[in-house]
Amino acid sequence: MPPSRDRPRPTAAKVLPPAVDLVDRPAPGSWLARWLAACADLQELFAHHQLLDAVIQEVSGRRIRVDGRWLLDFASCNYLGLDLDAEVLAAIPAYLARWGTHPSWSRMLGSPALYEQIEERLTGLLGVEDALLLPTLTHIHASVIPVLADQGTIFIDSRAHKTIWDGGVVARAHGASLHRFAHHDPAALEELLRRHPEQPRLVCMDGVNSMTGNPPDLPAFTAVARAHDALLYVDDAHGFGVIGQRASDEPSPYGRRGNGVVRHLGETYDHVVLTGGFSKAYSSLLAFVACPPELKRLLKVAAPPYLYSGPSPIASLASALVGLQINDTRGDQLRAILYARTRRVLDHLDKLGAATPNTSGFPIIEVPLQDPDDLPRAGRFLLDHGIYATLAFYPGVPRHQVGFRLQLTAANTDHEVTELLAVLDQLADAIPLRPRHP
Ligand SMILES: Cc1ncc(COP(=O)(O)O)c(C=O)c1O
Repeated sequence: MPPSRDRPRPTAAKVLPPAVDLVDRPAPGSWLARWLAACADLQELFAHHQLLDAVIQEVSGRRIRVDGRWLLDFASCNYLGLDLDAEVLAAIPAYLARWGTHPSWSRMLGSPALYEQIEERLTGLLGVEDALLLPTLTHIHASVIPVLADQGTIFIDSRAHKTIWDGGVVARAHGASLHRFAHHDPAALEELLRRHPEQPRLVCMDGVNSMTGNPPDLPAFTAVARAHDALLYVDDAHGFGVIGQRASDEPSPYGRRGNGVVRHLGETYDHVVLTGGFSKAYSSLLAFVACPPELKRLLKVAAPPYLYSGPSPIASLASALVGLQINDTRGDQLRAILYARTRRVLDHLDKLGAATPNTSGFPIIEVPLQDPDDLPRAGRFLLDHGIYATLAFYPGVPRHQVGFRLQLTAANTDHEVTELLAVLDQLADAIPLRPRHP
């Protein structure tokens, strides 16, 4: 390879200020040097293995081919396995024949009837007054949080998803003030609510947390929100489709119907705005905000993506609609499988004496390492042993939780879980996992 000075430079370098050199070391103190320093841990991981930014060449069930090697996928969020479901796959071509591949109107300019059909089904499933669909939760947080917060006050759980925080930042630019409270700590929230009385007040948090797999103590948070006349804004990306209302005849502790964290924890929607996505359990590019009809009317004009953003593709609208039908007929069966697969992994970690933040039994299982510096080695080990997992790196998780995240789906076979457990045994021998009882 020629010396770096002779190599062709990226075109972008021509338009950047001369202090910045994208090929060689950026000038100390430059904006690029600061960004690179801030992302140093991640850059290091990118450099050393393929669990990040992998190019997936082929899929066969839950096996994926990366760089010529077949790996078992435990990084997918397709909890119900609908991405591979024969009924969904068979149904989509008829929708494409009728609607084309993509409606290129924004929703305000023309919404295929599929949206209304999904909204109606969803409203019945959740037990809410109404719901508005937009392409993603990222769109919803960036546009709905600023409307709800107006020029008031936002309180965000310290481990809420990044897209919620970003929605808060947009709201701050419109005049709201932004405060963080300690993760899952209703007393810390209450203290902040006392100190910041400016209305309207919006409290934002994940439903099932995307890293720990645990839900908040929703009854405690709703009580605080109601007592202080604040609105609780919940992102249930990982609970919707997975957990639902409890029943004496439920086939698994995930409850029935997959209608989300509010119903699962026996709460009502009083002072609660529930948001959720279809991109995980339902394998579709689509998301919702559940709200009363008057708020829906307002959001249609005040939330920019309704007018300004491209819509979900027809295949996603179709898979969401068919997915909701499947949810009615065999969703609880799929969730019972999902629960059984998840339980095996959790019980095995317990046997190994390994810690996990997961206390819920839901299908997101983070496995911390004893030494956070072992992360690149652990990633390499998993890859070499045919396991595809999500790395949990700092600052995405606290340093003591640095490790890897396993997600189970109803499409994972029992045999695949057996393979995973065997690799976890070997990994635990080679690289110390954080012990359950230090
Ligand atoms: C908790 C949570 N919220 C929001 C998102 C973003 O969802 P979307 O892809 O619909 O923007 C994710 C995606 O990973 C998530 O885990």
